[in-house]
Amino acid sequence: MLEQRADRLWTHAESLRFAGVELGRIMTVIELSSGGLFVQSPAELTPALEAALDERGDVRFVAPASKLHGHLYMEQYATAYPDAELLAAPGLAARRPDLTFDHLLGDTPDPRWAPDIDQVAIVGHRWLTELAYFHRPSRTLVLGDVGFHIGSSSPLKTRLVARALRVYERVGPPVEFRLTIANAESFRRSIRDVLAWDFDRVIPGHGEIVETGGKRAVLEGFDWLR
Ligand SMILES: [Fe+2]
Repeated sequence: MLEQRADRLWTHAESLRFAGVELGRIMTVIELSSGGLFVQSPAELTPALEAALDERGDVRFVAPASKLHGHLYMEQYATAYPDAELLAAPGLAARRPDLTFDHLLGDTPDPRWAPDIDQVAIVGHRWLTELAYFHRPSRTLVLGDVGFHIGSSSPLKTRLVARALRVYERVGPPVEFRLTIANAESFRRSIRDVLAWDFDRVIPGHGEIVETGGKRAVLEGFDWLR
């Protein structure tokens, strides 16, 4: 259910169809050094996934990537883990009035996860702010829709769409996201902040994980910014 990627780091891939195309989606689970789990982009909480999480620790924080990516199923986590805190990305609280959020994510990590996880709010897009996370001990960057990475293991239709969106075998956002960046300088600065982290692995929101060489993959994936 949970695939171990590194010490205290797991992922779980689930199916996600968007406009008839299988995109898939990746959830990331980090065990904090203080104990407890930080869950990014939660997947549907099936009994099997719940059992796998319980085996690894208490779910403490449930975090999205943005108001669009990573908030599905949060209500299931709120029910199953009443002591867990739901974290909001900018704009998410308005989209999910059914949920009570404990914290609004910005550029500064909360002291409770800061020893393990750093974060950057990627700004500059017209209507979407995405949180990028960096798990320092495993040198892993975790993205959402700013980090698609569709590869050769995807079905043909997905690969064709990914090519058209310019996210086939490259890390980055779909081309329409690029075209709706309102403040290129702010966006560039955000990506520069991400690239300042010493990461090697990249977990994209959709597609294939880059196990090593992730820094170069992100540099190449964002070459259009230069
Ligand atoms: Fe997404």
